[in-house]
Amino acid sequence: YVVGVDIGTSAVKVLLVDLEGKIIDEVSRPLSLSQPQSGWSEQDPEEWVKETEEALKELTERFDEDVSEIEGLSFSGQMHGLVLLDHQYNVVRPAILWNDTRTTKQCQDIYEKVGEERLLAITKNPALEGFTLSKILWVKKEEPENFGRAATFVLPKDYVRYRLTGELSMDYSDAAGTLLLDIEKKNWSTEVCQAVGLPVSFCPSLVDSTAQTGTVTDADTGLSRSTKVFAGGADNACGAVGAGILTEGKTLCSIGTSGVVLSYEAEADKDFGGDAHYFYHAAPDALYTMGVTLAAGYSLSWFKVVFAPEEEFEDFVDGVEEVPPGARGLLFTPYIAGERTPHADAFIRGTFTGLDTFHRRADFVRAVMEGITFSLNESIEMFRKNGKTIDTIVSIGGGAKNEAWLQMQADIFNATIVKQKSEQGPGMGAAMIAAYGCGWCDTLAGCADRFLEEAEQFEPNTQRVETYKRLFALYQKVYH
Ligand code: XUL
Repeated sequence: YVVGVDIGTSAVKVLLVDLEGKIIDEVSRPLSLSQPQSGWSEQDPEEWVKETEEALKELTERFDEDVSEIEGLSFSGQMHGLVLLDHQYNVVRPAILWNDTRTTKQCQDIYEKVGEERLLAITKNPALEGFTLSKILWVKKEEPENFGRAATFVLPKDYVRYRLTGELSMDYSDAAGTLLLDIEKKNWSTEVCQAVGLPVSFCPSLVDSTAQTGTVTDADTGLSRSTKVFAGGADNACGAVGAGILTEGKTLCSIGTSGVVLSYEAEADKDFGGDAHYFYHAAPDALYTMGVTLAAGYSLSWFKVVFAPEEEFEDFVDGVEEVPPGARGLLFTPYIAGERTPHADAFIRGTFTGLDTFHRRADFVRAVMEGITFSLNESIEMFRKNGKTIDTIVSIGGGAKNEAWLQMQADIFNATIVKQKSEQGPGMGAAMIAAYGCGWCDTLAGCADRFLEEAEQFEPNTQRVETYKRLFALYQKVYH
């Protein structure tokens, strides 16, 4: 058996998977999110550790074989979040997360100090509030005492892995999202570090996602000390592994708290001019390009929390399939926490447009789902403009749980949508990394053949595709 641990934003999820890739058991534990000011988003790293330990304990207590049968474990984690550590690897301040947009000023500073052209040439990514470097510079400027105590930094899943094993490192898929990695050289960039005034020694040691980084030494997990731990990767990289996006031409749509569209890339030397995120994959030496909607599932959960806090999620979304495409004239833009792709804009906020007296709650729910999907379609259109053929997309995450939403994706993206047997992409990807690390398969693609199963396909309907094309053009005007 192997375990995949996914440190998400809304929950920690652990999956127990057998030799054939079958999910034997799973535990999910919610995480709290602190938003002390508009645009700020923080979490307590101690809570990730505690909830991961509790989840693993629950899983191991229910496991009716000897725990030493659990051979390997690996991680998937929310990207970009800054965990600052002192010399003894104690946490210096709460983690500043990927969806925190307080660092616009620091992004301007990065461009000034490194130069926009150099930054794009080295890191292959623009300076965005979400990425780690601007968060480090914010602490340096605004909390000099905390910064003075900091000796290094890691990302969320690296910190949990450190607490479970006592070993500290970062893998390339997460390092790529810090804006400190030289993508082509595959090393920390001394040029970027020097320009922004950070010693390169501030950056942790780098490993492949599939590398073993110790064994489990944390007894509170209930796991055996013989369980091997593999570094794991960024949630989107692991989601790509768990959806079998392991060769050029394959595309993923993942709707979790954020929403992403990503596409496999074999080479590190392409140029998207900063329009797409361009990061390392968890598959050795591969990369991916990606567009991100900051508040995807988060827009829907926000709407539910405000207007139907007591209802079960299934009841809340029940009836959207009866509302016609276009939600009877109601249009939503999901910019409730700012936006990334295609509008890198921390200050924009969301809208409902076209409200009428006849609108009912199901119209709003459908409009929210459509707005999220339109936002992701902007990324798909950007990829298509860059010459990519996107006719089939694997859909994972919360957005793959609801049939009406899967059909909506097919109609708005004008592509065949593939739903897998399990929509748990990142956790499954982490389990596959552990399986590969344990030597169960020769390649991750070999693991995908064994572990992943297609459940259903959703085909675009010509008439709805035309309706949505018209509505998408309207949607695109709202931002401006
Ligand atoms: C990607 C991003 C989000 C997080 C969500 O750049 O910021 O998708 O990884 O966990």
